[in-house]
Amino acid sequence: MAEVVHAPAKTDGIDLDYVRTLMAHFEPEDWQEGQELILSALQEINEHFGYVSVEAAEIVAERLGTTINRIYGLLTFYADFRTQPRGKHFMLMCHGMSCYVMGSQKLVQEMADKYGISDGGTTAGGELTIQVVNGCLGACNQSPVVKLDDDYHGRLTTESFNELVQRVIAETAQEQ
Ligand code: FES
Repeated sequence: MAEVVHAPAKTDGIDLDYVRTLMAHFEPEDWQEGQELILSALQEINEHFGYVSVEAAEIVAERLGTTINRIYGLLTFYADFRTQPRGKHFMLMCHGMSCYVMGSQKLVQEMADKYGISDGGTTAGGELTIQVVNGCLGACNQSPVVKLDDDYHGRLTTESFNELVQRVIAETAQEQ
């Protein structure tokens, strides 16, 4: 008799058993309540793993009685959600009005030209993910500003931005 082989529960860094356990706590009484719980379920997965994979999205869809298309609509509509894993470090690049006036476009361009990544992209070695935000990071007096993990770095030029990015890449490579 052929041996039954179960697909591994962990894919792309997301522990699907954990997702199923998490989803077991979501017990909608009817379809409408299920729809209202979708965002909370996605937020919990996104917070825990840093993103929501296709497999995790399928578990949410099945549990809450919706389609994968609807889940993906929500994941792409809300900027806080990610569908790809993050790098080891995470940078928010402010592109709000004050930062824009003070030259954030040059940093966005540098990110694309020098590191080959677009908004939400990750450096080739997985060291750093950079996300551009059009809202204000609340530090306009230091524009243009980025927030690297928990720290703000302001009055950036393309040179100081590159120094910062290259330091993160080098330090992360040493840690690995
Ligand atoms: S607009 Fe960038 S910190 Fe306010």
